Amino acid sequence: MTTAPERRSLPLFPVTRHGSRSYATCFYRCGNACDHPEPNRSEHPHVRDVVNTALQRRSLVKGAAVGGGALVLAGLIAGPAVAGPGRGHGNGPGPGHGPGRGPGHGNGHGSRGGGLGRVDVEPVAPNVRDAFTVPKGLESEVVMRWGDPVVPGATQFDPHRQSVASARAQFGYNCDYVGLIPLDSGDRPGTRALLVVNHEYTNEELMFPADTYSEDDIRRIAMASHGMSVVTLERGRTPGSWRPVSPRRTRHNRRFHDATEFAFTGPVAGHDLVRTSADRRGRTVLGTFNNCAGGSTPWGTVLSGEENFNQYFSSSTGTVPAQYATEYARYGISATGGAARNWAASDPRFDLATEPHEAHRFGWVVEIDPLDPHSTPVKHTMLGRFKHEGANVIVNDDRRVVAYMGDDERGDYLYKFVSQERYLPSDSPWARRHNKLLLTEGTLYVARLTGDGTEDGVHDGTGEWIRLATHRRSYVPGMSLEEVLVFTRLAADKVAPTRMDRPEDVEPNPWNGKVYAALTNNSNRGQAGMEPDEANPLASSMVRSQLGAPLTAASGNRNGYVLEMTPHRGDHASDRFTWDLFLVCGDPEAPETYFAGYDKSKVSPISCPDNVAFDEAGNIWISTDGNVLGSNDGVFRVPLSGRDRGRVEQMVTVPRGAEACGPLVADDDRSLFVAVQHPGESDDSTFASPYSTWPHTDDFPRPSVVVSYLAD
Ligand code: FEO
Ligand code: CA
Ligand code: CA
Ligand code: CA
Repeated sequence: MTTAPERRSLPLFPVTRHGSRSYATCFYRCGNACDHPEPNRSEHPHVRDVVNTALQRRSLVKGAAVGGGALVLAGLIAGPAVAGPGRGHGNGPGPGHGPGRGPGHGNGHGSRGGGLGRVDVEPVAPNVRDAFTVPKGLESEVVMRWGDPVVPGATQFDPHRQSVASARAQFGYNCDYVGLIPLDSGDRPGTRALLVVNHEYTNEELMFPADTYSEDDIRRIAMASHGMSVVTLERGRTPGSWRPVSPRRTRHNRRFHDATEFAFTGPVAGHDLVRTSADRRGRTVLGTFNNCAGGSTPWGTVLSGEENFNQYFSSSTGTVPAQYATEYARYGISATGGAARNWAASDPRFDLATEPHEAHRFGWVVEIDPLDPHSTPVKHTMLGRFKHEGANVIVNDDRRVVAYMGDDERGDYLYKFVSQERYLPSDSPWARRHNKLLLTEGTLYVARLTGDGTEDGVHDGTGEWIRLATHRRSYVPGMSLEEVLVFTRLAADKVAPTRMDRPEDVEPNPWNGKVYAALTNNSNRGQAGMEPDEANPLASSMVRSQLGAPLTAASGNRNGYVLEMTPHRGDHASDRFTWDLFLVCGDPEAPETYFAGYDKSKVSPISCPDNVAFDEAGNIWISTDGNVLGSNDGVFRVPLSGRDRGRVEQMVTVPRGAEACGPLVADDDRSLFVAVQHPGESDDSTFASPYSTWPHTDDFPRPSVVVSYLAD
C-alpha cells in the first residue's frame, strides 16, 4: 500500500442491460464485448442453411402443454438445504470434522444409494436468494474462499491490508475451473487430493474498500489475484466432503500468478511473434490471465484456457501498431479496450504501443503439473491462440490424445487437436515426461457443421474437422505455421468453419464417447452475416426480466444450446462426425425450447449453459452463466440416455450476482464441486454496499469453491 492513496474513480455503470446481465458484468467479464461488433466479420455463405419454420412449429406444439404453474417445483422453497458459512476454514480443521473415514475406493459405484448421479431429489426452484442452495438431502460446505491461505507464509486475509505479496500467496479471486487430482492412490482419490482452480478475473469494486488503496495498488493487487491455485484437500467427516489441509502440512500447494514463469512449447516457442523486450528469446512469459475453464488429463496434469485476455491491453499512443491492426481487431484488442483497467500504467508490457508482441503471449492453453510442485508450467502453442474457454482431452482407441476446445465469442468456432504421439498408460517418471509432451506435436482442426434439414423435426446433421496445421506445416494458404497458431482465428476464417453461438466448454464424455459443447448464447444471431443455421437455429428467444414476470421475445439466441457430437465410428481422430442439439435451453414454456424430446412439463428452466461435467451414472452436469429467466444461475443434472434423456433437474442455485462454474462430479459421484464466481456482481454493488455477502463469513462477498454431498 502507498501512504497517500489517491481516490479511485469507479467505472460508471449507468444502465442494466442484456436481460438480467448488469453493466458491471459486461465490463469485468469480457470488456464490454457486446458493445462492439463481434470480431468475426468473415462471411461463409456456402455453409449456411437457414432454419426451416417447420421446426419452430414442432417446438411450439411440444411447448404448448406447459402452463404457468405446471412445473413440478412447487413446495420446494421450504425444503432446500442452504450452504451456510464454510466450516473448517483457515489453518486447522473446523468444528465437526473428525478424522477422515472415507469410504474404500473402487467400489463406490452404487454405494450410498448411487451417489449424486442417481439420488432422487426435488429439484431446486428458480430463486434470487443470496445463498448456495441444493435439494433436500444434500449438504454443502465452502472449501476455499478468496483470500484463504494457499502457500506457507500466506498472511491472514484482511481486505484492508491487501498487498501484491499477500495476493500471490492466497486463494485468488473469481474461481472458475475446478479439477481434483488424486494424490495418494491410483486413479481414484484416496485420503488426499489436489484441488486445482482457475482465478479468471477480478471485481475491483467488490475487492477494495474505497479510499484505502491507490490506483496503482489496485491494479497490481488485481493482477496478482488472477491465475491458478493448487490446494491440498483431505476428506471430511461425511463421505464426499473435503476440506483444505494447512499449507504447512503439504508440499503440493502452489499459486500461479502474474509473476510466475511459463515456458512456451510447440512451433511458436522462440518465434519473433512472441519476442518482447523482456524476453528477447520468446521462450518465457510471466503469468496467465483470464483463465476460464479447463480440463484434467489422464496423466495427472491440468489444462486451463486463457480467455478474454484482450481486455488487459491498451495503447499509450491511442493507436495500435499498424502491422498488427487486422490481427488485433480479430481478437478484440484495441487501443482503448484495456483503458478502464489500465494495467499498462502499472506494467508497461500491457502497452501495445511499446510491446506489440506481449498480447501474442496470451490466449493459449496452459498446462500445469500439480503433482510436481517444482515443474515449470507451459503454454502450448500447437493448440492455437484464441479466446480459449478451456481444453478437455480424451485418449482415442489408438492411444492418440484428442483435445476439444471452444473459442468463446459470438460467431466463433469449435476446434480440436489430435496428438502425433501416443499416450503411455503408466505413472512412471519416463511415461509422465512423454505424456506431458503430447500436446506439443499433432494436428489442429476447426469444425464445420452442416444441417440435414429440419423436416425430420430435429436439429441435427453432419460435421467435418478441417485441418489448419500440423507441427510441421500450415494447411492454410498464405499463412505460415507460426501465423496459423498465433492468429488462429484469422486462419480458421479462411476455411469456412461454422460460426457458433459462443462455444464454452467442449468436453468428451468418457462414459459414452460423445462430445458435448455448451453454446451459451449469441445476442447477434439473426443479424446480417450471422444468419441462423440448423446448429444455431434461433434468431429470437424468450426471456423474463424477473421471476414471475411474463416471458417476452428478445432478438438472438439468449438461452443457449447444448450440442452433442458423435465421432465417426467412435474415432476421435476422424475428420467426420454427426451432431444434434441435445438441449435448446430456456423456460419450458417458451415454444423454442427442446429437452432431447423429454416432457417439457417436467424439467427445470435452464439458461446460458457454460461448463459441463459427467458422472458415472450417465448424466451430464451443466453450470450456467447469465440466466435471463429471472433466477440466479445454477447447476443442472441431465441424463444422457434412456427414457429420462433430457430430464433437466436443477441441483444448485448460486447466490445473487454469481455464476456457477466448475462443476465437477468426483470421488465415485460422492462429491459435487462448484465454483461460485463473482457473487454480488451487479451495478452499484460495492465493497461497502454489496449486492451479496455470500458466503456470509464477512460483510462483503468472497468467491469460493463449494463441495456438495449426500447428507449423513
Ligand atoms: Fe469465462 Fe467463456 O466464460
Ligand atoms: Ca435435421
Ligand atoms: Ca466459462
Ligand atoms: Ca463463464
